Amino acid sequence: MEILRCESLTKTYQSGGAPVHALQNVNLTFSQGSFTAITGKSGSGKSTLLHMLSGLDRPTSGKVIYQDNDLSKYNDNQLSVLRRRRFGFVFQSYNLVRELTAQENILLPVMLDSRKPDENHLNRLIEILGIGDRLSHLPGAMSGGQQQRVCIARALANKPAILFADEPTGNLDGKTGREVLTLMRTVSQELGITMILVTHDLTVAEQAERIIRLEDGQVADDSGTVVIP
Ligand SMILES: Nc1ncnc2c1ncn2[C@@H]1O[C@H](COP(=O)(O)OP(=O)(O)OP(=O)(O)O)[C@@H](O)[C@H]1O
Ligand SMILES: [Mg+2]
Repeated sequence: MEILRCESLTKTYQSGGAPVHALQNVNLTFSQGSFTAITGKSGSGKSTLLHMLSGLDRPTSGKVIYQDNDLSKYNDNQLSVLRRRRFGFVFQSYNLVRELTAQENILLPVMLDSRKPDENHLNRLIEILGIGDRLSHLPGAMSGGQQQRVCIARALANKPAILFADEPTGNLDGKTGREVLTLMRTVSQELGITMILVTHDLTVAEQAERIIRLEDGQVADDSGTVVIP
Protein backbone atom coordinates (compact mmCIF):
# COMPACT_ATOMS: atom_id res chain seq x y z
CA MET A 1 0.00 0.00 0.00
CA GLU A 2 1.32 3.42 -0.95
CA ILE A 3 2.22 5.89 1.81
CA LEU A 4 4.14 8.60 -0.04
CA ARG A 5 4.77 9.65 -3.61
CA CYS A 6 6.16 12.52 -5.59
CA GLU A 7 5.13 13.60 -9.06
CA SER A 8 7.31 15.59 -11.46
CA LEU A 9 9.25 16.88 -8.47
CA THR A 10 11.55 19.71 -9.49
CA LYS A 11 13.72 21.96 -7.33
CA THR A 12 15.73 24.81 -8.75
CA TYR A 13 17.90 26.88 -6.44
CA GLN A 14 18.45 30.50 -7.41
CA SER A 15 21.39 31.78 -5.45
CA GLY A 16 23.08 34.66 -7.15
CA GLY A 17 24.65 33.13 -10.26
CA ALA A 18 23.25 30.50 -12.56
CA PRO A 19 20.23 28.49 -11.35
CA VAL A 20 21.04 25.05 -9.91
CA HIS A 21 18.70 22.30 -11.05
CA ALA A 22 18.94 20.16 -7.92
CA LEU A 23 15.97 17.92 -8.85
CA GLN A 24 14.38 17.47 -12.23
CA ASN A 25 11.07 15.70 -12.77
CA VAL A 26 11.42 13.03 -10.14
CA ASN A 27 8.55 10.50 -9.84
CA LEU A 28 8.70 7.98 -6.99
CA THR A 29 6.26 5.92 -4.94
CA PHE A 30 7.03 4.50 -1.51
CA SER A 31 5.00 1.72 0.03
CA GLN A 32 4.06 1.45 3.66
CA GLY A 33 6.69 -0.25 5.82
CA SER A 34 9.33 -0.23 3.07
CA PHE A 35 13.01 0.52 3.63
CA THR A 36 14.62 2.58 0.86
CA ALA A 37 18.12 3.97 0.43
CA ILE A 38 18.69 7.00 -1.77
CA THR A 39 22.22 7.09 -3.05
CA GLY A 40 24.31 9.05 -5.54
CA LYS A 41 27.37 11.28 -5.73
CA SER A 42 27.83 14.45 -3.74
CA GLY A 43 25.60 17.14 -5.24
CA SER A 44 23.29 14.66 -7.02
CA GLY A 45 20.27 15.93 -5.09
CA LYS A 46 19.84 13.37 -2.30
CA SER A 47 19.35 15.81 0.58
CA THR A 48 17.19 18.04 -1.60
CA LEU A 49 14.93 15.07 -2.39
CA LEU A 50 14.68 14.13 1.29
CA HIS A 51 13.80 17.73 2.21
CA MET A 52 11.03 17.86 -0.41
CA LEU A 53 9.58 14.43 0.48
CA SER A 54 9.49 15.27 4.19
CA GLY A 55 8.02 18.76 3.86
CA LEU A 56 11.14 20.45 5.25
CA ASP A 57 11.26 22.53 2.09
CA ARG A 58 8.96 23.13 -0.87
CA PRO A 59 9.57 22.11 -4.49
CA THR A 60 9.78 24.63 -7.32
CA SER A 61 7.19 22.53 -9.15
CA GLY A 62 5.61 19.11 -8.90
CA LYS A 63 4.05 17.65 -5.81
CA VAL A 64 4.42 15.37 -2.83
CA ILE A 65 1.44 13.28 -1.76
CA TYR A 66 1.40 11.79 1.74
CA GLN A 67 -1.48 9.35 2.21
CA ASP A 68 -3.68 11.15 -0.34
CA ASN A 69 -2.79 14.58 1.08
CA ASP A 70 -1.13 17.00 -1.32
CA LEU A 71 1.52 18.77 0.78
CA SER A 72 1.58 21.76 -1.56
CA LYS A 73 -1.88 22.61 -0.20
CA TYR A 74 -0.56 22.74 3.37
CA ASN A 75 0.49 26.06 4.87
CA ASP A 76 3.74 26.27 6.84
CA ASN A 77 2.02 25.63 10.14
CA GLN A 78 0.15 22.57 8.85
CA LEU A 79 3.40 21.25 7.41
CA SER A 80 5.21 21.61 10.71
CA VAL A 81 2.40 19.82 12.55
CA LEU A 82 2.53 17.00 9.98
CA ARG A 83 6.31 16.72 10.40
CA ARG A 84 6.03 16.67 14.18
CA ARG A 85 3.20 14.13 14.35
CA ARG A 86 3.82 11.83 11.41
CA PHE A 87 7.50 12.08 10.45
CA GLY A 88 10.75 11.39 12.29
CA PHE A 89 14.16 12.76 11.33
CA VAL A 90 17.71 11.55 11.88
CA PHE A 91 20.74 13.46 10.63
CA GLN A 92 24.45 12.84 10.37
CA SER A 93 25.30 15.01 13.38
CA TYR A 94 23.74 13.52 16.48
CA ASN A 95 22.37 16.86 17.74
CA LEU A 96 21.29 15.55 21.12
CA VAL A 97 20.82 18.11 23.90
CA ARG A 98 24.11 17.88 25.78
CA GLU A 99 22.66 18.74 29.18
CA LEU A 100 19.97 16.05 29.05
CA THR A 101 20.35 12.32 29.63
CA ALA A 102 19.63 9.81 26.87
CA GLN A 103 16.21 9.14 28.37
CA GLU A 104 15.35 12.85 28.61
CA ASN A 105 16.49 13.37 25.03
CA ILE A 106 14.28 10.52 23.82
CA LEU A 107 11.24 11.89 25.68
CA LEU A 108 11.78 15.51 24.63
CA PRO A 109 9.71 15.49 21.40
CA VAL A 110 6.80 13.72 23.13
CA MET A 111 6.89 16.27 25.97
CA LEU A 112 7.13 19.23 23.58
CA ASP A 113 4.02 17.94 21.85
CA SER A 114 2.25 17.79 25.26
CA ARG A 115 1.50 14.14 24.78
CA LYS A 116 1.72 11.17 27.06
CA PRO A 117 4.51 8.78 26.12
CA ASP A 118 3.48 5.29 25.05
CA GLU A 119 5.53 3.30 27.56
CA ASN A 120 5.23 -0.01 25.72
CA HIS A 121 6.37 1.54 22.46
CA LEU A 122 9.31 3.31 24.13
CA ASN A 123 10.40 0.18 25.97
CA ARG A 124 10.29 -1.82 22.75
CA LEU A 125 12.39 0.82 20.95
CA ILE A 126 14.94 0.91 23.76
CA GLU A 127 15.13 -2.86 23.71
CA ILE A 128 15.56 -3.19 19.93
CA LEU A 129 18.14 -0.39 19.84
CA GLY A 130 20.01 -1.85 22.82
CA ILE A 131 20.30 1.38 24.80
CA GLY A 132 18.65 0.27 28.04
CA ASP A 133 21.88 0.57 30.02
CA ARG A 134 22.65 4.05 28.67
CA LEU A 135 19.43 5.85 29.57
CA SER A 136 20.88 7.87 32.46
CA HIS A 137 24.03 8.89 30.54
CA LEU A 138 24.69 12.31 29.08
CA PRO A 139 25.50 12.35 25.33
CA GLY A 140 29.13 13.24 26.08
CA ALA A 141 29.52 9.93 27.89
CA MET A 142 28.30 7.82 24.96
CA SER A 143 30.02 6.53 21.81
CA GLY A 144 28.97 7.81 18.39
CA GLY A 145 27.01 4.65 17.66
CA GLN A 146 25.20 4.88 21.01
CA GLN A 147 24.37 8.55 20.44
CA GLN A 148 23.01 7.78 16.99
CA ARG A 149 20.85 4.96 18.40
CA VAL A 150 19.48 7.43 20.97
CA CYS A 151 18.73 9.83 18.09
CA ILE A 152 16.84 7.05 16.29
CA ALA A 153 14.84 6.31 19.45
CA ARG A 154 14.08 10.03 19.84
CA ALA A 155 12.98 10.26 16.20
CA LEU A 156 10.66 7.28 16.69
CA ALA A 157 9.30 8.18 20.14
CA ASN A 158 6.21 9.83 18.64
CA LYS A 159 5.47 6.72 16.53
CA PRO A 160 5.96 8.41 13.16
CA ALA A 161 4.68 6.80 9.99
CA ILE A 162 7.91 7.62 8.13
CA LEU A 163 11.49 8.03 9.33
CA PHE A 164 13.69 10.21 7.13
CA ALA A 165 17.43 9.90 7.69
CA ASP A 166 20.19 11.89 5.96
CA GLU A 167 23.57 10.12 6.17
CA PRO A 168 22.70 8.60 9.59
CA THR A 169 25.92 6.58 9.54
CA GLY A 170 28.09 9.35 8.10
CA ASN A 171 29.97 9.95 11.34
CA LEU A 172 30.32 6.29 12.30
CA ASP A 173 33.01 3.77 11.40
CA GLY A 174 32.00 1.10 8.89
CA LYS A 175 31.19 -1.65 11.38
CA THR A 176 29.20 0.60 13.73
CA GLY A 177 27.40 2.09 10.73
CA ARG A 178 26.30 -1.35 9.53
CA GLU A 179 25.13 -2.25 13.04
CA VAL A 180 23.03 0.92 13.25
CA LEU A 181 21.55 0.13 9.83
CA THR A 182 20.67 -3.40 10.91
CA LEU A 183 18.88 -1.97 13.95
CA MET A 184 16.98 0.49 11.76
CA ARG A 185 15.84 -2.41 9.57
CA THR A 186 14.68 -4.36 12.61
CA VAL A 187 12.73 -1.35 13.89
CA SER A 188 11.19 -0.85 10.45
CA GLN A 189 10.12 -4.48 10.22
CA GLU A 190 8.89 -4.91 13.79
CA LEU A 191 7.10 -1.58 14.13
CA GLY A 192 6.02 -1.20 10.49
CA ILE A 193 7.72 2.17 10.06
CA THR A 194 8.56 3.30 6.53
CA MET A 195 12.20 4.35 6.28
CA ILE A 196 13.79 6.53 3.64
CA LEU A 197 17.48 7.09 4.13
CA VAL A 198 20.12 8.97 2.22
CA THR A 199 23.63 7.58 2.02
CA HIS A 200 26.51 7.91 -0.38
CA ASP A 201 27.96 4.70 1.12
CA LEU A 202 27.10 1.71 -1.09
CA THR A 203 27.72 -0.92 1.61
CA VAL A 204 25.13 0.90 3.72
CA ALA A 205 22.71 1.26 0.80
CA GLU A 206 22.97 -2.45 0.02
CA GLN A 207 21.27 -3.25 3.31
CA ALA A 208 18.08 -1.55 2.13
CA GLU A 209 15.22 -3.34 0.36
CA ARG A 210 15.28 -0.81 -2.42
CA ILE A 211 18.06 1.41 -3.75
CA ILE A 212 17.36 4.58 -5.71
CA ARG A 213 20.38 6.20 -7.34
CA LEU A 214 20.28 9.87 -8.27
CA GLU A 215 22.45 11.48 -10.89
CA ASP A 216 22.28 15.21 -11.59
CA GLY A 217 18.91 15.51 -9.90
CA GLN A 218 17.29 12.64 -11.78
CA VAL A 219 16.59 9.00 -10.95
CA ALA A 220 19.34 7.01 -12.70
CA ASP A 221 18.52 3.61 -11.16
CA ASP A 222 15.70 2.30 -9.02
CA SER A 223 15.78 -1.30 -7.85
CA GLY A 224 12.15 -0.93 -6.77
CA THR A 225 10.94 -0.31 -10.30
CA VAL A 226 9.97 -3.30 -12.36
CA VAL A 227 11.20 -2.68 -15.87
CA ILE A 228 8.81 -4.16 -18.40
CA PRO A 229 10.73 -4.96 -21.60
N1 LIG B 1 20.14 25.99 -0.29
C1 LIG B 1 20.77 25.84 -1.46
N2 LIG B 1 21.02 26.91 -2.25
C2 LIG B 1 21.63 26.75 -3.45
N3 LIG B 1 22.02 25.58 -3.95
C3 LIG B 1 21.80 24.48 -3.22
C4 LIG B 1 21.17 24.55 -1.93
N4 LIG B 1 21.08 23.29 -1.42
C5 LIG B 1 21.64 22.48 -2.34
N5 LIG B 1 22.06 23.19 -3.43
C6 LIG B 1 22.68 22.62 -4.65
O1 LIG B 1 21.80 21.62 -5.17
C7 LIG B 1 22.52 20.49 -5.64
C8 LIG B 1 22.06 19.26 -4.89
O2 LIG B 1 22.45 19.39 -3.51
P1 LIG B 1 22.13 18.29 -2.40
O3 LIG B 1 22.52 18.90 -1.10
O4 LIG B 1 20.74 17.84 -2.56
O5 LIG B 1 23.14 17.13 -2.82
P2 LIG B 1 23.51 15.77 -2.04
O6 LIG B 1 23.33 14.67 -3.03
O7 LIG B 1 22.77 15.70 -0.76
O8 LIG B 1 25.07 15.98 -1.78
P3 LIG B 1 25.99 15.47 -0.52
O9 LIG B 1 26.23 14.00 -0.74
O10 LIG B 1 27.24 16.26 -0.69
O11 LIG B 1 25.26 15.77 0.74
C9 LIG B 1 24.00 20.84 -5.44
O12 LIG B 1 24.50 21.35 -6.65
C10 LIG B 1 23.98 21.90 -4.37
O13 LIG B 1 25.08 22.75 -4.48
MG1 LIG C 1 23.35 15.73 1.26
